[in-house]
Amino acid sequence: MCGIIGCFGTNGVAEPAARSVLEGLRRLEYRGYDSAGVAALDGCTLVVRKDVGYVDQVAVRFELEDMTGTVAVGHTRWATHGGVTQGNAHPHTDMAGRIAVVHNGIIENYRALRDDLTDAGVVFRSETDTEVIPHLLAMAMADGCPSLAEAVRKVCARLQGSYAFLALSADGGGTMVGVRKDNPLVVGFGDSQIFVASDVLAFGPMASRMAPLLDGEIVEVTMAGVRFFDVYGSELAKNSDAVDIVWANTDRNGHPHYMLKEIFEQPRAVCECGAGEDDSLVDAALAILGARQVVFTACGTSRHASLIGRYFFSKIARRFADVVMASEFGYFARSLNPQTVVIAVSQSGETADVIAGVKLARQAGAHVVSVVNRPACLLEEMGDHVIRLGCGAEVGVAATKTFTCEVIVFYLLAHAMVNRLKQGRANVERAGELLGELLQGLNGGLWKLAADLKGRDHFYYIGRGVNFAAAMEGALKLKEISYIHAEGMPAGELKHGTLALIEPGTPIMAICPNDETHAETISNATEAKARGAFIIGVSDLPSEVFDYWIKIPAVSPLLYPVLLIPPLQLFAYHMAVARGCDPDKPRNLAKSVTVK
Ligand code: F6R
Repeated sequence: MCGIIGCFGTNGVAEPAARSVLEGLRRLEYRGYDSAGVAALDGCTLVVRKDVGYVDQVAVRFELEDMTGTVAVGHTRWATHGGVTQGNAHPHTDMAGRIAVVHNGIIENYRALRDDLTDAGVVFRSETDTEVIPHLLAMAMADGCPSLAEAVRKVCARLQGSYAFLALSADGGGTMVGVRKDNPLVVGFGDSQIFVASDVLAFGPMASRMAPLLDGEIVEVTMAGVRFFDVYGSELAKNSDAVDIVWANTDRNGHPHYMLKEIFEQPRAVCECGAGEDDSLVDAALAILGARQVVFTACGTSRHASLIGRYFFSKIARRFADVVMASEFGYFARSLNPQTVVIAVSQSGETADVIAGVKLARQAGAHVVSVVNRPACLLEEMGDHVIRLGCGAEVGVAATKTFTCEVIVFYLLAHAMVNRLKQGRANVERAGELLGELLQGLNGGLWKLAADLKGRDHFYYIGRGVNFAAAMEGALKLKEISYIHAEGMPAGELKHGTLALIEPGTPIMAICPNDETHAETISNATEAKARGAFIIGVSDLPSEVFDYWIKIPAVSPLLYPVLLIPPLQLFAYHMAVARGCDPDKPRNLAKSVTVK
């Protein structure tokens, strides 16, 4: 949540830093989009322009493109402390307007710090936790700190919580300093510009090399170049890696929305998922087989994929595994021990609840398998084993291709546990091919269905076994981007309460492919139809009970979720568009949930 980027032009020919920052902010908007702002150093003057709205709206309103100077920092916000107002938008400055700060995270002890600063005569101009940082930095500098980097180090010792922030000082020709704790920050090296940002995606095309910061590390950028310091203030040597061009590509390829593009990328992503990960899959499989207890932990869509994963483990490898949602994981921490394997699943690799759970797991001596998509993420650093989805950047806030690839990874992992990885891969490739054919043919029909049903207020998604988790995911997609109430549940649970809500015309998505769950799910759908429900069947088999049939092809039984979730994503997409919602930027949400 919240995206930050800074740019420092290291020679006179670089284009104005604010322009590069603006480009980076557009690429970081998936992290939050309720306000945006830029601070640029023009000569000796620090100019701050910020407001509520999307990056491009603020850019037009305040001519951000035209801000001059070779140093700038920018922010795109997802509000935590303080409402969505111009005053609360970042950057925030000290009273003299000489230091600007952009911040991602939460300063938990900001109230106490604010009281101290107020007692010392500071006048606050926002309700944010962030604003304490520039004031503390200004005080540290006034107290004789020899450099902004040293002031940042001193101030961090007083901050509690999680943060990644950039400070830009107007003094001494301009200095930009970045630091992180439990939130990501990556340094990018371009031809004539140095970037520091929340994600490599921000500076992808503008930099050729990158170096992620670790907790407590500080980066300082001045006209003299880039320096790194450790938590004690000693200078560090840091290696850089090449920026992955494929990852950095955020082109929409002619699609009106990222979500649509990412839905249609799935056939290929499925076929390529886990390529080059055989060693990691086998190592993780051995760790799981040697464990006394196996627990998945994840949030949202990644949790739904994990719920499918536990069925794979049981069906394919006869291994029981539990799934604990990451926000509840801490309450089970006492039952973790060195014989536990925790499979932590997060496409962003930075979801705060998942990171917190993994910390507890490590403290208890448990073994951690990290399943991630974004390169150089926090969860990758924390895993004993790391399995990468490798499906490229997912920019739409609603997870689509990362869900499908997580499911594939668990399918392959279960096959690795029984030494049948090759067979698993062959099944997955076939599913990918079938999915390609399916998506081409479905789009128009789902658009029409969405147009017919866009006025409905409630949807229910039902399924059994692996299809129950798919039902939960289908419902989540619908509610998060089209703002319609939707519930996913095991089909057998319908009659234990929810049936009371069924009225004539209530839409029910019955997920009932030709597997062991088919007949019983059809019975449950029939019970609902007897109460007037409108049944949309998702299956390779027809049924009299269906009022509408989303026909999918037959596939190896456990892989049905890979074929039936993309049509449900597509349906949700068309519903959102039909209702005038922006599927890429659903209200109140952000893609990387870095607060608990
Ligand atoms: C829904 C969605 C969220 C995420 C959740 C976890 O479409 O995207 O529910 O799945 O915030 O995110 P990651 O996988 O990054 O930990």
